[in-house]
Amino acid sequence: MDLEIADGEFVVVMGTSGSGKTTLLNLIGGLDRATAGRLQVLGMDLAGLSEARLAQLRMVSIGFVFQEFNLLPELTLQENVALPLEGAGVARAQARRRADEALSRVGLTGLGPRFPDEVSGGQQQRAAIARAVVGERRLLLADEPTGALDSATGAQVMSTLRELCDSGVTAIVSTHNPANAEHADRVVRMQDGRIVETTAGGSRASGTDDAELRDAGARG
Ligand SMILES: Nc1ncnc2c1ncn2[C@@H]1O[C@H](COP(=O)(O)OP(=O)(O)O)[C@@H](O)[C@H]1O
Ligand SMILES: [Mg+2]
Repeated sequence: MDLEIADGEFVVVMGTSGSGKTTLLNLIGGLDRATAGRLQVLGMDLAGLSEARLAQLRMVSIGFVFQEFNLLPELTLQENVALPLEGAGVARAQARRRADEALSRVGLTGLGPRFPDEVSGGQQQRAAIARAVVGERRLLLADEPTGALDSATGAQVMSTLRELCDSGVTAIVSTHNPANAEHADRVVRMQDGRIVETTAGGSRASGTDDAELRDAGARG
């Protein structure tokens, strides 16, 4: 495949089971290494990075979100979200303050002291998203983040991702659900490890792109 994703873009990757969505996300996130080809992430050639440097990149710059939320049950939401910062050496008090900021960005203001089993599935997933973007992290990779949620809750999670992209985060999100394309800038359809189609997502196809807004403004 040949794929270039811009800063701040929201890309949805669609495809049936086995089409290669997870493999693609794991390659971009440095969890797997490509055996061929060239892969640049955040300006860095991943093949040239040591394991230690890759681990550091994941800790500092890339956030992962999975289908099953993957929060640590014995930690509060705030502690879960603060973990990557503490792992990167940020002092605990500051890490927790920034965790609260990240929780607010995903609509969970005030829920920091709760434990994962004290909030809904949608709230757990939004906490996982807060953990993925806490601090300076601006590349978010989400592998079927709505797969364990009902469709209304899944749509809320996708809206949260959309808002984060509008504030500068880049998101690459795999999904089975065609409704999730509505929130994307671009939809990449995969089959057997290849891209078979690339289309504008709902947020681009809705007829309110920047040029049209400008034209509307010019017309008064
Ligand atoms: N660790 C692995 N080793 C070998 N083949 C794998 C591995 N992981 C996935 N695959 C294969 O790669 C293909 C793509 O899988 P995957 O990326 O998990 O697809 P998707 O996430 O779209 O369901 C499938 O044929 C799968 O069986
Ligand atoms: Mg998968």
